[in-house]
Amino acid sequence: MSNSTFDVIVIGAGPGGYIAAIRAAQLGLSVACIDAWRNAAGGPAPGGTCTNVGCIPSKALLQSSELFEQAGHGFKAHGIGVQGLTMDVAAMQARRAAVVRQNNEGILYLFKKNKVSFFHGNGRLAGGSAEAGWQVAVAGKDGEQTLTGNQVIVATGSVPRSLPGVEFDEDRVLSNDGALALAAAPKTLGVIGAGVIGLELGSVWRRLGAQVTLLEAMPDFLAAADAQVAKEAFKQFTRQGLDIQLGAKIGAVQLGKSGVTVEWTDAKGQAQTLKVERLIVSVGRKPNTAGLGLEAVGLALDERGFIPVDADCRTALPGIWAIGDVVRGPMLAHKAEEEGVAVAERIAGQKPHVDFNTVPWVIYTHPEIAWVGQTEQALKAAGRAYKAGSFPFMANGRARALGDTTGFVKVLADASSDEILGVHIIGPMASELIAEAAVAMEFKAAAEDIARICHAHPTLSEALKEAALGVDNRTLNF
Ligand code: FAD
Ligand code: NAI
Repeated sequence: MSNSTFDVIVIGAGPGGYIAAIRAAQLGLSVACIDAWRNAAGGPAPGGTCTNVGCIPSKALLQSSELFEQAGHGFKAHGIGVQGLTMDVAAMQARRAAVVRQNNEGILYLFKKNKVSFFHGNGRLAGGSAEAGWQVAVAGKDGEQTLTGNQVIVATGSVPRSLPGVEFDEDRVLSNDGALALAAAPKTLGVIGAGVIGLELGSVWRRLGAQVTLLEAMPDFLAAADAQVAKEAFKQFTRQGLDIQLGAKIGAVQLGKSGVTVEWTDAKGQAQTLKVERLIVSVGRKPNTAGLGLEAVGLALDERGFIPVDADCRTALPGIWAIGDVVRGPMLAHKAEEEGVAVAERIAGQKPHVDFNTVPWVIYTHPEIAWVGQTEQALKAAGRAYKAGSFPFMANGRARALGDTTGFVKVLADASSDEILGVHIIGPMASELIAEAAVAMEFKAAAEDIARICHAHPTLSEALKEAALGVDNRTLNF
């Protein structure tokens, strides 16, 4: 094979693409991975949205800002006095950048280790066929070259959706990109869309001193979450000082010298005005297919701009696959990774399966929110007979010792078979606790299985065991 011909070409090195490339290489295939992301010096920065302006930097800032909040408000209860507490936002941002860089470098190292040929530049489908191989043109800093691949995996991810007529300038009107990079906490911060980004980044800047107002179009808060969890979350976030306005209809958005003015109508139909220094627009993301050359191979998009694929991530063209945010399904890094592994294995002749029902969801606020499987309202709507058990962290010894007793665990199980149908957690370390529930569901466990498994004491995970016991009305500590 020539050095420009590969078994597999992956376009995009986000969590979907780079993981697909590594898995394909592990399976003995020759692999090229192309990614356009540049770091501040113009060099390669693989890892996609997730590593550069998504999962990783947001969690770095959530950690820094939570420590600041704890030092200011939480340490006292432990007898720790803090005087002259300060926040050096520049240092926090330098740490964020360093965390991102470590991840970028880690991926480049993994490419080398697995003999994945990495190309830094823009990849474009340039023609070809399943029989002759697909051509992908790569425009890099040294000009354009054409690669040929028997198989192509498109993993080009997503980009932020803007409000009609309101462009991101990343100064006053911020996407996730600008919202992660602020040099100081604004006095006032508006957020349009109280979804995952709005809540996570709204929390970061509130903790650092911003007065944060979130304007959400939907009448229900966090409609995708279990309603009981969403209700508790709303209570906690409001108590922390986030001003969350539901049922908001956004009107004119005007940029002035000192900030942004948003005209909006509240849930009662009253006209309102919000004046803020900065505005985050986090109203969802759209698939990224610009400049990808889909027309050169005759691949059409669906009405929402996604690349249409079947359940196995096959596009309409043989040998061309698409995964991650650029296709249907939840826009989550771990979903993209699972699809990447599965496609690489399918190319190698294996028969993997990805089950969206056991993909966990996590919101990294404080308290954290995590769930897997069905919500109570979805089970009701489907007419499924179920039993519910729940357990508050207030009654969990470890949570009390941590001083973090907000929230609860809820387990939903089939009324007759006891199979776990959903687990919903709001509280400390929900992001880690949910893994046990996902494993249990993958193994088709019954609530009784979790209830009978020995959990270490004192741990937060005992709250999950207790909630499982609660399905049969036999919690021991509540
Ligand atoms: P992406 O990560 O978007 O990567 C696509 C890559 O392809 C990019 O590097 C892009 O430059 C490159 N590319 C695009 N077109 C071309 C081309 N033509 N040629 C070459 N390269 C190209 N998800 C979670 O699961 N957990 C979280 O905590 C989380 N936090 C998030 C926080 C924020 C602020 C945001 C914005 C998102 C977050 N997400 C989180 C979502 C997560 O980032 C995405 O679901 C995930 O990155 C999708 O992976 P992907 O591989 O499909 O695409
Ligand atoms: P989102 O879908 O989570 O939230 C967008 C919110 O904006 C929704 O509540 C929606 O009702 C609202 N909205 C839409 N149009 C509006 C309008 N015109 N006015 C007011 N509100 C409006 O999307 P978000 O927060 O932008 O995040 C994008 C994606 O990134 C999500 O799909 C999410 O999966 C992913 N992500 C995941 C994270 C995690 O897993 N912890 C963290 C951050 C993002």
